[in-house]
Amino acid sequence: MKVLVTGASGYLGGRLCRALLNQGYSVKAFVRRTSDLSSLPPPNFDGSFELAYGDVTEYRSLLDACSGCQVIFHTAALVDLWLPDPSKFISVNVGGLKNVLQAFKEAKTVEKIVYTSSFFALGSTDGYVADENQIHPGKFFCTEYEKSKAVADKIALEAAAEGLPIVLVYPGVIYGAGKVTAGNVVARLIIERFNWRLPGYIGSGNDRYSFSHVDDVVDGQIAAMNKGRLGERYLLTGENASFKQVFDIAAAITKTKKPWLSIPLPLVDAYGWISVLVSRIITGKPPLISPPAVDVFRHQWAYSCERAKAHLDYKPRGLSEGLSEVLAWLKSLKLIKY
Ligand SMILES: NC(=O)c1ccc[n+]([C@@H]2O[C@H](COP(=O)([O-])OP(=O)(O)OC[C@H]3O[C@@H](n4cnc5c(N)ncnc54)[C@H](OP(=O)(O)O)[C@@H]3O)[C@@H](O)[C@H]2O)c1
Repeated sequence: MKVLVTGASGYLGGRLCRALLNQGYSVKAFVRRTSDLSSLPPPNFDGSFELAYGDVTEYRSLLDACSGCQVIFHTAALVDLWLPDPSKFISVNVGGLKNVLQAFKEAKTVEKIVYTSSFFALGSTDGYVADENQIHPGKFFCTEYEKSKAVADKIALEAAAEGLPIVLVYPGVIYGAGKVTAGNVVARLIIERFNWRLPGYIGSGNDRYSFSHVDDVVDGQIAAMNKGRLGERYLLTGENASFKQVFDIAAAITKTKKPWLSIPLPLVDAYGWISVLVSRIITGKPPLISPPAVDVFRHQWAYSCERAKAHLDYKPRGLSEGLSEVLAWLKSLKLIKY
């Protein structure tokens, strides 16, 4: 069976391609001409791994890429909490999904779509743990990225209701070895923390996220293809914890000191504004901390993955196990010392 993976050059997509190849699938990686392909294997002659160049906002390139494929893993997205041009989130994350759905209809050879959404598409969960029944209230969005994923989710659900064979998966905050893109937030924050550029905890520790190991998410995506119920939503989330707990676990694993300081969110917010200014005027690179990112910290994002456990045999690992591996990996790359 041949599968098309959009976002193949990304953090999650690269791991997904490798796992699919290891399991004997033929993979067509949909990448841009500008994509960094360093995390992907070289294309080979027997066709088990090939590249298809295009852009999810360019319909024709997607349609051409569908040729010969039975499954589409739509993983591509613009993943960041702030960008100078916020309209890009909608054009790529919503427009890209619309193009995938249209290409599915026109190609006629594809049998299933596994669409990778995000916990952000369900909205925050202040004071409780949500499951797949939660629909984003759509009244307030911390980031344009959240908004784009929520709008795209609605479109994916409408497609499912129309009978399109689509399975929707919603990872939590993804962490684990892999490309250090904007999506690899845990690795980036650990690097900042261990190099003392982040001198303490962010806020009071009242934040809450569901942390998903990248390889568990990949297993969940492949299981969604093989045994996911059509039209179903599956949260591929993990242990619910704060970033304070992540830093404390990291300190315990590495036998280093815990941070002794909690940086108040208004101060982090001010730093975010300065970072945005520096990005706009000097570096041109999206900052790690921005005011919308601080808004995300002001909320809780905790989810239950019981449905994925039951239907997909999803087995998320705990944070201690996952972080031990991440810390050793970052140390081996000399990005952190302990
Ligand atoms: N990271 C997380 O914590 C997290 C959590 C929940 C859900 N997700 C979802 O998981 C998916 C993958 O995220 P990630 O962390 O792997 O992000 P990532 O590392 O930034 O990868 C994004 C991928 O999408 C591709 N892409 C972006 N714009 C495109 C366009 N216009 N046309 C074609 N390809 C385009 C990128 O290509 P280039 O290499 O050319 O830029 C890259 O391959 C996304 O759908 C995201 O919403 C991520």
